[in-house]
Amino acid sequence: MTRSDKDTIHKRTENRRLLQRMKTGLEVVKHTPYKGVLLGAYLVGAALVWLFRAYLFSLDSYGMFSPVLEAAINLLIPLYAVGGLLAFLAFLGTPRGNKAAKEGLQKVGLVNHAGEAPALIAKRQDGNNPRLTIWEFDPCGIPLGEWEDKRARIETALDITIAKMTWAEGRKLIRVYAVPAKSDFPALLPWKDKYLTPESFVLVLGESLTGAVTVNLANIPHILLGGSTGSGKSVLLKLLLMQSLRKGAEVYIADFKGGVDFPKVWHNKCRICFTEEDLLYTLGQLVTVLEYRKGRLAETECKDLDTYNEVTGENFHRIVFACDEVAEMLDKTGRSKESKEVLAQIENKLATLSRLGRAFGIHLILATQRPDANILPGQIKNNLDFRVCGRADNVLSQIILDNTNAADQIPKDARGRFITGDGTVFQAYMLDEKQL
Ligand SMILES: Nc1ncnc2c1ncn2[C@@H]1O[C@H](COP(=O)(O)OP(=O)(O)O)[C@@H](O)[C@H]1O
Ligand SMILES: [Mg+2]
Repeated sequence: MTRSDKDTIHKRTENRRLLQRMKTGLEVVKHTPYKGVLLGAYLVGAALVWLFRAYLFSLDSYGMFSPVLEAAINLLIPLYAVGGLLAFLAFLGTPRGNKAAKEGLQKVGLVNHAGEAPALIAKRQDGNNPRLTIWEFDPCGIPLGEWEDKRARIETALDITIAKMTWAEGRKLIRVYAVPAKSDFPALLPWKDKYLTPESFVLVLGESLTGAVTVNLANIPHILLGGSTGSGKSVLLKLLLMQSLRKGAEVYIADFKGGVDFPKVWHNKCRICFTEEDLLYTLGQLVTVLEYRKGRLAETECKDLDTYNEVTGENFHRIVFACDEVAEMLDKTGRSKESKEVLAQIENKLATLSRLGRAFGIHLILATQRPDANILPGQIKNNLDFRVCGRADNVLSQIILDNTNAADQIPKDARGRFITGDGTVFQAYMLDEKQL
């Protein structure tokens, strides 16, 4: 690209941007009453000048030149009025700090091939969450992926902590949701009963910078939790199980450590499997329940559990099956032939539940800390759609999320800090088991 090519591109961008600013200005006027009044005052002023033009410009005193002058003035006043109006709109549509933002982004290298940095189009507080500021940029041809890659640099350039970045208005704008750079997650967010959601099967996990992080098992039926030892998986798993119980679900847990992970309170409320045989038997029962429900739903022509309960007035409970450290459970290395056979059948049943559970209200929540790709078979893993990962290395992060976000974005010393598959970082609520 030659220098003059670049100049042409810059010129065009400037023109396009001016138009954009005017459009934004119009929006601003619509939404901010006092700016509307300012614009109104301008228009009234212009109208007055027009009405009293003869008097203002003393047209009569120019004798034979008066008609010429009058024609000129009749032409010029509307031109100036319209020009002034557009300039005024462009002024209103230019957010404060746009120069600084642009220069900042230029400095950290967020530029397109013509060397242009994105322009700040608007900056405002989020109506739903006053902690958040929304920055709207004209991306100048820079794709969202590149923004994501340069996230840390953008944070430095604008002195913010980014909560998320999305496309807006089709692909015309990029929206950056951010909080001031100094704000950070609290180290501890104790669970409170009032956080329990009223909706049937929405579970809350914790809080991100943009608000509560939830998952609706009716839509996304199964959860895969990852994270290295001490990242807070077991606590999060129990938080989800506790909420499931409170919402009336039947909870099944596989725990081969003899109940160390799940103290007495859990034993009264859940069905816990302590051995492989026991687990296989229980999963077999769950598959039977699934088949039964499938038949009932087909007979009544209901598409899912909620519809069925509503139509028939029956109450099929949701069923949640959980396993902490599922990779340990399924690991076949060093096992006897019989044991391997049992594990294969367990896998098989889990795969069935993960594939068909959604419509029939049967859900899996599986956790693991082991970064070995082969242990959790693809036919199970691929059906666990809601992914959450705590502190992890690249390999584990890759297995859980299909990216290295957990390794990149979760601080090494954070506990109970997680990131979801869609890139939302959150602090999980801390459940004190004494609360149960
Ligand atoms: N949400 C949380 N907030 C604060 N601290 C937590 C949270 N979850 C876990 N922790 C701390 O981290 C420790 C390890 O948590 P745990 O769930 O046992 O980790 P993991 O199962 O991943 O090994 C807990 O004993 C607790 O002190
Ligand atoms: Mg654990």
